Amino acid sequence: MKKKKEITILGIETSCDETAASLLKIKNGKFEIISNVVSSQVKIHARYGGIVPEVAARKHAENIVPVLNAALANLFKSSLINIRQSKFVKINKIIDAIAVTNGPGLITSLLVGVEAAKTLAFLTRKPLIPVNHLLGHIYINFINNHQLINNRQQLFPAICLVVSGGHTELVLMRDFENFKKIGQTLDDAAGECFDKVAKILGLGYPGGPAIATEADKFKISNLKFRIDLPRPMINSNDFNFSFSGLKTAVLYSFQRSKSKNRNYLFKMCREVQQAIIDVLIAKTIKAAQKFKAKSIILGGGVVANEELRKQFASKVYSLSFKVKFFAPAKNLCTDNAAMIALAGYFKLKKTAEKDWRKKFDWRKIKVDPNLSI
Ligand code: KG4
Ligand code: ZN
Repeated sequence: MKKKKEITILGIETSCDETAASLLKIKNGKFEIISNVVSSQVKIHARYGGIVPEVAARKHAENIVPVLNAALANLFKSSLINIRQSKFVKINKIIDAIAVTNGPGLITSLLVGVEAAKTLAFLTRKPLIPVNHLLGHIYINFINNHQLINNRQQLFPAICLVVSGGHTELVLMRDFENFKKIGQTLDDAAGECFDKVAKILGLGYPGGPAIATEADKFKISNLKFRIDLPRPMINSNDFNFSFSGLKTAVLYSFQRSKSKNRNYLFKMCREVQQAIIDVLIAKTIKAAQKFKAKSIILGGGVVANEELRKQFASKVYSLSFKVKFFAPAKNLCTDNAAMIALAGYFKLKKTAEKDWRKKFDWRKIKVDPNLSI
C-alpha cells in the first residue's frame, strides 16, 4: 500500500440486532475512532425472549440511515446531515473506503447493511471491503495497541477465543491476515447458553448481563444447598465446545427445585457463569500451550463479562510460560462498527492504493450468513 498519511474508513455492521456505523481514522499507523454509533434493538427483542430475525431486519431498515447520519455527523460538527450535494462532496473527500460485515449472521439483517454500503460505494466510487464479523471481534483488540502491529514476533502465534451470541471458536492466528479455526462449539454458543438459561430462569434478554448481575448478588453465607453443573467437554482431546447440555442441566435443576427463592437464583446464576468460564479458560490455555502461543486474544459479547475477564487475566498471569493477554474495552466487546472498520483496514493495507477500487469492487460483494474463518 502506498504510504498515505491519513486514511478514513466508514464501517457498517448489521449482522444481528445492532445497527452500527463508525468512522475510523488511521494516521501515522495510529487508530482514532471518530464516531461509533450503535443502535441496539435489545428492548424490542426482549419482549420475545430472543432475536426475531424478521423484526431485526425491519428495524435495521428503519435505523440504517439515521445511524449512518449520526456517525457521519462528526465530519460536519452538526447533529444532522442531509446528504445534499455539498455535504455529499465532503463525505466523498473524507472517506477513503467503506467496510461492511458480509457474514456470518442473519441473512436479512446482513442484507440491509450490505445494500446500504453498496449504495454508498456506488455513489462515492469508493472501495467496499467485505469483513468477516468474527475477525472484527479479534482485530478490535489492536485499536489501542498500534505499536505492537510492527512487532509481529512478539504477538504471534496467537490463540484467539471468539465468544458471542452465535459463536464460540478458538482460532490460531499466525499473522495479521493468517487465521485458522482450531475448534468450535458443536451445538450452542456460550452467549446463547447465557441467553437460554436466562430465559429458563425468567431473567429476560440478553441473558449474559442479566445472569452476571444476579450472580454478583450471591453471598456464601446464604449457601444452604449445592448446585453442581457439568463443565462439558472440559477434558476432551480437542478444542471444541458444547454448551447445550449445560442449559439442559439448568432446566432439570430448575424443574426439580422446590424452593426457587432468591438465593437459589443467585447461586444458579453464579454456578452457570462459572461453568462457562471454567470451560472457556481451560480450552484456551490448552490451545495456547499446544501452539506455543505468545498471546491470548479474546473477542465477542461474552468478553464483556467482568468475572470472565478477571479470572482469565489472573489465570494467564499465573501460568509457567509467558503469554500476552488482550481483551477489548467492554463497550467494544459487543457488536459495533469500529471493529468492522478496523478489520477492513487490515485488508486494505495489503493492497496497493492504485488497486483498491478494482480489488474492492462493490459489485463483487456477496452476503454469506455462514461465512467462516
Ligand atoms: O458479539 P455480540 O454482541 O453479538 C453476536 O455477535 O452474537 O454478543 C452477544 C452475546 C449475547 O449472547 C449476550 O448475552 C452476551 O454476548 N453478553 C454477555 C455479557 N454481555 C453480553 N455474556 C456474559 N456476560 C456479559 N456481561
Ligand atoms: Zn458479534
